[in-house]
Amino acid sequence: MTQEITITRPDDWHVHLRDGQMLKDVVNYTAKQFHRAIVMPNLKPPITTVDAAMAYRNRIREAVDPTLDFQPLMTAYLTDDIDPAEITRGFESGAWTAAKMYPANATTNSSSGVTDVRNIEAVLARMEEIDMPLLIHGEVTDHTVDIFDREAVFIETILKPLIERHPDLRVVLEHITTRQAVDFVRAAGPKVAATITAHHLMINRTDLFRGGIRPHLYCLPIAKREEHRLALREAATSGDTAFFLGTDTAPHKVTDKESDCGCAGIFSAPVAIESYAQVFAEEQALDQLEGFASTHGPAFYRLPRNSSTLTLRAEEWSPPLSIRLNDGDSIRPFCAGDTLHWKMVD
Ligand code: NCD
Ligand code: ZN
Repeated sequence: MTQEITITRPDDWHVHLRDGQMLKDVVNYTAKQFHRAIVMPNLKPPITTVDAAMAYRNRIREAVDPTLDFQPLMTAYLTDDIDPAEITRGFESGAWTAAKMYPANATTNSSSGVTDVRNIEAVLARMEEIDMPLLIHGEVTDHTVDIFDREAVFIETILKPLIERHPDLRVVLEHITTRQAVDFVRAAGPKVAATITAHHLMINRTDLFRGGIRPHLYCLPIAKREEHRLALREAATSGDTAFFLGTDTAPHKVTDKESDCGCAGIFSAPVAIESYAQVFAEEQALDQLEGFASTHGPAFYRLPRNSSTLTLRAEEWSPPLSIRLNDGDSIRPFCAGDTLHWKMVD
């Protein structure tokens, strides 16, 4: 008998949809599986005004296949000198669902990010007042801190004090990669949550060097030791509502990844729900997939659950080695050439 599971349609609480032709090439992979997605604002230039967010939302809507029911949720990119009034105006008008803090130069397109969290104290106080979620790329950028320690050091030196200063601020620690992050989120209470990517549930840092250097598995925060991957798998499949799905799908052209200085980012949208389903099946926790993918996120963001559903079927398939872009270049999806055991039923 064919094995199938049907869940409330999931949402992706962390995506990079890019812009221009790349947006048109990638957005429908996300729109096909998810009803809503939190769209990252790290364009060039970043999305720092309500007008820019609304124009970007329109470009996304125009790029989505009209037969798909997809709702992009926009975010503001926090800079040292962003105006608290603009943040409030965008949140209260429904233009923005949340604001994103990138420590300056922590990752791809973050050079306009926050150089010191103290510079945005007024904005954080305002967000706490209006109950607007703060989404955090949680890594320190100090080059004397080892790249594998940057998340844990950020939690101790920046995040814990920030939360003490702003106990009512709702915070999502994005794409967590360490046991320290899991422990921190568990101890922090209902105002603090975390997203977890499928790739951090599937690969550890040794996989980055399996048989040679693997640029398509390079992302930030970088994958950590096996003990951390296991802690993330335990958290994701535990049923704890503080953890929910955020793919961090981050497409880059193959030529930009396979280069002298390859970009950080993994394009996981074409295999998003399937790769999570594989992890949950391996952990004998398919019954927890719906919570993680479809109900914990809306509860945290105070949005209704989706009314439609998504069905997965047990079926072996292999994602393509590359997806051709309209400009002739290509991108390589996560799990390219591997065997996945679950497939979304169209
Ligand atoms: C993201 C990107 O390419 O925009 N890259 C990544 O490695 N995850 C940025 C980010 O989320 O850090
Ligand atoms: Zn991201």
